[in-house]
Amino acid sequence: MTFMKALGIEHPIIQAPMAGVTTPEFVAASADAGILGSIGAGYLSAEATRDFIREVKKLTDKPFAVNLFVPEQTEMEQEQLRQAYFALQPIGKKLGMPFWKAPLSEPSFDGQIDVIIEEEVAVCSFTFGLPDETVIQKLKEHNVYLIGTATTVEEAVLVEQAGMDAVVAQGKEAGGHRGSFLGEQLVPLEELLPSIVEAIGIPVIAAGGIANGEHLRHQLSRGAAAVQIGTALLATEESGAHPLYKQAVIDATENNTVLTKAFSGKSARGIRNEFIEMMEGFPIAPYPYQNDLTKKIRSEAAAQSRPEFMSLWAGERVQDTVGGTVKEIVEKFLGDGG
Ligand SMILES: Cc1cc2nc3c(=O)[nH]c(=O)nc-3n(C[C@H](O)[C@H](O)[C@H](O)COP(=O)(O)O)c2cc1C
Repeated sequence: MTFMKALGIEHPIIQAPMAGVTTPEFVAASADAGILGSIGAGYLSAEATRDFIREVKKLTDKPFAVNLFVPEQTEMEQEQLRQAYFALQPIGKKLGMPFWKAPLSEPSFDGQIDVIIEEEVAVCSFTFGLPDETVIQKLKEHNVYLIGTATTVEEAVLVEQAGMDAVVAQGKEAGGHRGSFLGEQLVPLEELLPSIVEAIGIPVIAAGGIANGEHLRHQLSRGAAAVQIGTALLATEESGAHPLYKQAVIDATENNTVLTKAFSGKSARGIRNEFIEMMEGFPIAPYPYQNDLTKKIRSEAAAQSRPEFMSLWAGERVQDTVGGTVKEIVEKFLGDGG
């Protein structure tokens, strides 16, 4: 079966899973536009994942993907956590909250896997590593199509060896968190895609800085089975990004993105803002603890409409992002290359 048939899509495009940004309308609009819609379920509980899936099913009959964060074991010392909290206090103060509660997040991965099987989700994609063998086996027994994420050739080889059906080659240009799980290396997509295509036999999905039809065709001509686009869809009507986040993306006139660990403890690309600048050189807790520490700050910044303290994830081609509907953006990609 061809790759596109296996995914049930008409066009070789995947709407990037974007935790916190994807809405049921966004995923369904992507599916209805003939591309693969993906739920960014990384931060959701198992029950919230189920509710989200059911909402999408109400809106479309087409298949879609659910994206999960593979959990990792992180050593954490209380003193490190205390210092990281202390470093965030000047930002908290600016938002009128010198102290805030930062409960540690509960693991939800195993429960999410059960939900994916019970809800008969067609595609499951992963970032931040590889699930263990039993999880992969379980999903395969239920015919779930599996997609891993790699930022280097070494990671792509492990994704294939683990039994995944396809891999996302995530270049350094990509917006949001990096899927790296063997240490951070910043490989541009131009270099990463051909080296992965040569090294493995499963379909490779190109991601990172793909902003128009010309980029799409270029990646396909170099052996990509499809592309995964995030930043290009961020400012669409169906996107759940905060209105001021969408505005920042649309207003960007040049690549003003940077990689930062300040929001979550894990490297991610976003528009440079005051939060990132204030945290430079200060202690940061490892993922996922830093994410737990900053959660209240980010939600308070959103409530107060203060984008300078929000995480404005975006990729290196942010200046090309325009508004419109998902369907219009997809048509642009398929049309004249503009
Ligand atoms: C706002 C945002 C959130 C993201 N969240 C996720 C996520 O939850 N899971 C994931 O696998 N990738 C996530 N990514 C990365 C995308 O899957 C993809 O690699 C990236 O968007 C491609 O680069 P581009 O943004 O330049 O198109 C996110 C990207 C953005 C911009």
